[in-house]
Amino acid sequence: QQCATAQADATLAGPPPTRTRAHASHKGSYGDVAVLGGAPGMRGAAVLAGSAALHAGAGRVYVAALDSGPDLTTDAPELMWRAPAELALARLTVACGCGGGPQIAAWLPQVLAEAAQLVLDADALNALAADEGLQDRLRQRRQPTVLTPHPLEAARLLGSSTAAVQADRLAAAQTLAERFGAVVVLKGSGTVVAAPGQAPAINPTGNARLATAGTGDVLAGFVASHLAAGSSASEAARHAVYQHGALADAWPAGQALTASALARAAN
Ligand code: APR
Ligand code: MG
Repeated sequence: QQCATAQADATLAGPPPTRTRAHASHKGSYGDVAVLGGAPGMRGAAVLAGSAALHAGAGRVYVAALDSGPDLTTDAPELMWRAPAELALARLTVACGCGGGPQIAAWLPQVLAEAAQLVLDADALNALAADEGLQDRLRQRRQPTVLTPHPLEAARLLGSSTAAVQADRLAAAQTLAERFGAVVVLKGSGTVVAAPGQAPAINPTGNARLATAGTGDVLAGFVASHLAAGSSASEAARHAVYQHGALADAWPAGQALTASALARAAN
């Protein structure tokens, strides 16, 4: 059941075009994604975003964890672990914040200045909400940027409440998009995609089976993979949310939808 009140004002987001892979292509043709996140106790979020980007088609995926624990390679040996300072931000699509904890704030000035394309999620958004200097840096960014707040994260960014955001989701998403000059994905039932100067769209796919921990991290990875493949920020956002919801809609009955299974189901 989609968010019926808002639907009248918005165009619906559509499915992504089928992507073919040219025979003469190589992994460099599909873009490099880096996930910056994984604070202590939250490595899983960074692994989910990274493996989602990989399964959604990114050519190479790096994970830069914000703690110094051992690499978690068992789950997805394709992921390449790096220290955050080793990332060549200017040539990467960066998914930032996934399980970032408060540690992510220290990396944001450099990430905002340098990342070739950027998805800001979770604690990156919370750090942004708490720091007007970072908000100025976001406004100054010229490279493609997508913010993926859930309603509480959106409320923090707006200085309002979750109830106010939910009472007019289209307006909340559009206000954030205009304020920060970025594409905004306001998550939840009836996910809204807003971009500066464009009419917002409501995603027609998805259901409450997505209400399980880590599915937002998977979405951040999907957006990053579309950006890395060359989509514009608003196309990447629309296609990723459509794909994310469509996977949940097609999920076999009686089979658990977990975030890691969702990431693996992408293609
Ligand atoms: N209908 C459709 N889609 C839904 C529904 C629903 N009823 N419930 C959830 N979803 C989708 C959202 O649209 C979004 O894409 O599932 C995803 C949930 O993302 P998040 O709210 O970010 O949840 P999660 O991945 O668990 O977040 C992990 O990051 O945002 C922080 O505080 C959060 O610490 C937590 C961490
Ligand atoms: Mg989240």
